[in-house]
Parts: sequence; structure tokens; C-alpha cells
Amino acid sequence: MRKPLIALLFLAACVPGAKDGPDAAQDYADYCSACHGATGRGDGIAAAGLSKKPADLTRLAARNGGAFPTTRVMAQIWGYAKAKGRGVMPDFAPMMTGDLVPYDGGDGIETPTPERLVALAEYLKTLQAE
Ligand code: HEC
Repeated sequence: MRKPLIALLFLAACVPGAKDGPDAAQDYADYCSACHGATGRGDGIAAAGLSKKPADLTRLAARNGGAFPTTRVMAQIWGYAKAKGRGVMPDFAPMMTGDLVPYDGGDGIETPTPERLVALAEYLKTLQAE
């Protein structure tokens, strides 16, 4: 009974266009900028109405001694860091569709990680202030 599911998963991995890779800038604009602002400063149009101020995403590295906290960022986006966000920021695990890529978050262990999540974290890295 497993075969149809496996065939389906295989087909899904072969969908044309999937090879182009995720468009993280577009994902950010669509899912994050309303709260975190177009440049990540936490000043999106929806920010004022929230019970908790959205984090300034340009200072993630600065606030972490200069090192971009990649795994923490990914956990927050995915929704593992619920206690910290206290429910204000939604979980984005459901939007992390598409291919998995081996990703080493810094501990030397490569874990299959949604390519879209990796791309989003890499995108946030480019927003870091000096
Ligand atoms: C509904 C508003 C909202 C949306 C949409 C939202 N966030 Fe957030 N986000 C927040 C709030 C509020 C916090 C502050 C929680 C906290 O104290 O860490 C936060 C925290 C974060 C943090 C943690 C910062 C830190 O200091 O560790 C990251 C990273 C982050 N958001 C990234 C994103 C990304 C990427 C997206 C889009 C996929 C997104 N957020 C969408 C409201 C939002």
C-alpha cells in the first residue's frame, strides 16, 4: 500500500520549476515584511497593532556578538521557538514546501532542511547592519 505514496513523493520532487530554487526575497516580501518591514527593521505596516514588537532583523548578528544566529533564526521561522515569540509570530513550517537540502547549521552535522528555509535564513543574513 506504500507504493502510490512513494510514487507521488517522487513526482512532487520532479515538478518542473522546482529546480529554479526558492525566491527568498519574494517569500520575505510576501510573508515577513508586513510585520518586520521591507528592510527588516521591525517597522512593517502591521507592527503597530501587535502586542509584541517584531524583532529588528537587521541586528540579529550584532545582537549575537557579530555572528549570525542561523539555527536560532531557522527555529523561529519554523515555529520551534514558540516560547520566545509568545504566539505573536506565526509558524511558517507549513509554507516550507519543496526540496530538502543537506544543511550544516554550524555543528558539523548536515541535516535535511527545507531549501526554502535555508534560502530565507541566507536572505536575512544579507540584511545585517554593520
Ligand atoms: C504577525 C507578525 C509577524 C510576521 C508575519 C513575522 N514575524 Fe517574525 N517576529 C514577530 C515578532 C512579534 C517577533 C518577536 C518575538 C521575539 O521576541 O523574539 C518576531 C521574531 C522574529 C525572529 C527572531 C529574532 C530574534 O531575536 O531571535 C526572526 C528571525 C523572525 N521573526 C523572522 C521572521 C521571518 C523570516 C518571517 C517571514 C517568514 C517573519 N518573521 C514573519 C512578528 C512577525
